[in-house]
Amino acid sequence: MSDEKWTTAITEIAPGKISVRGYDIAEMMEKLSFAQAVYLILRGELPDPKQARMMEAILVSSIDHGATPPSVLGTRTVVSGGNPLNAAVAGGVLVIGDSHGGAIEQSARIMQEWAKKDGTPADLAAALVADLKVTKKRLPGFGHRLHTTDPRTVKLFEIAASLQFTGRHTELAQAIEAELERTGGKKLPINVDGAIAAVISDMGFDWRRGKGFFIISRVPGLIAHAYEEMTTQKPMRKLGDTNFVYSGPPSRRI
Ligand SMILES: CC(C)(COP(=O)(O)OP(=O)(O)OC[C@H]1O[C@@H](n2cnc3c(N)ncnc32)[C@H](O)[C@@H]1OP(=O)(O)O)[C@@H](O)C(=O)NCCC(=O)NCCS
Repeated sequence: MSDEKWTTAITEIAPGKISVRGYDIAEMMEKLSFAQAVYLILRGELPDPKQARMMEAILVSSIDHGATPPSVLGTRTVVSGGNPLNAAVAGGVLVIGDSHGGAIEQSARIMQEWAKKDGTPADLAAALVADLKVTKKRLPGFGHRLHTTDPRTVKLFEIAASLQFTGRHTELAQAIEAELERTGGKKLPINVDGAIAAVISDMGFDWRRGKGFFIISRVPGLIAHAYEEMTTQKPMRKLGDTNFVYSGPPSRRI
């Protein structure tokens, strides 16, 4: 067997010792929020306070969207078929793709490619949307089945602006939304995937990490749905995305 070793720069372990990106796990547990730890493990360095605040907002934004998203139906269907929590969550995560949640990845790729080009956001948006009409492709990160204005987008952009994070990618996304409406006659709002794509691009994240943000945020929601399905529903029931009613607490304030 060869003595050649492969390398990993993420976590060092030894008996009684765990260091993530060089930081002792016990100190991290004492001093870091979950969002700060996620930023650290993804980027390799601790976030500054503004980056940490933005990360918190991103991870909260997609924690759940009710009983209708494909990933939730996937998770509940796996439970309904008689399978355990890990299978149900894995099933839900597998449903996340370019049309649902995972649109962050391709949206960020497109914005990162176009933001590098010369021109104002409005000029670039006009060229990008004209291209789209020729190829007849959908633009990931835009449009929503329910919302004409996605409340998560509004808040993410508001927080990004207050932290002076708004950069060329977010300006491009906003220009694209305006151009899609101007040329198509219908509003295709920047959805939460598009908003996360723009903000993480302005924060300097590589687009190939895009789907990860949605997965990290949505897994708690999938666990909640899997547990509710296991504990309140009978096996192999008729599971649909319209034959349900919300039974939780009424709207309240934090
Ligand atoms: C999310 C989505 C599936 C919702 O779609 P919907 O509201 O049910 O709309 P429909 O699929 O009925 O499409 C309605 C029209 O808008 C167009 N459209 C919808 N989203 C579009 C997009 N992102 N880019 C370009 N055109 C789009 C459709 O082509 C269709 O045009 P037509 O009426 O000329 O055929 C859709 O907007 C989409 O595919 N977006 C891209 C993927 C994405 O961002 N997913 C994350 C969702 S949070």
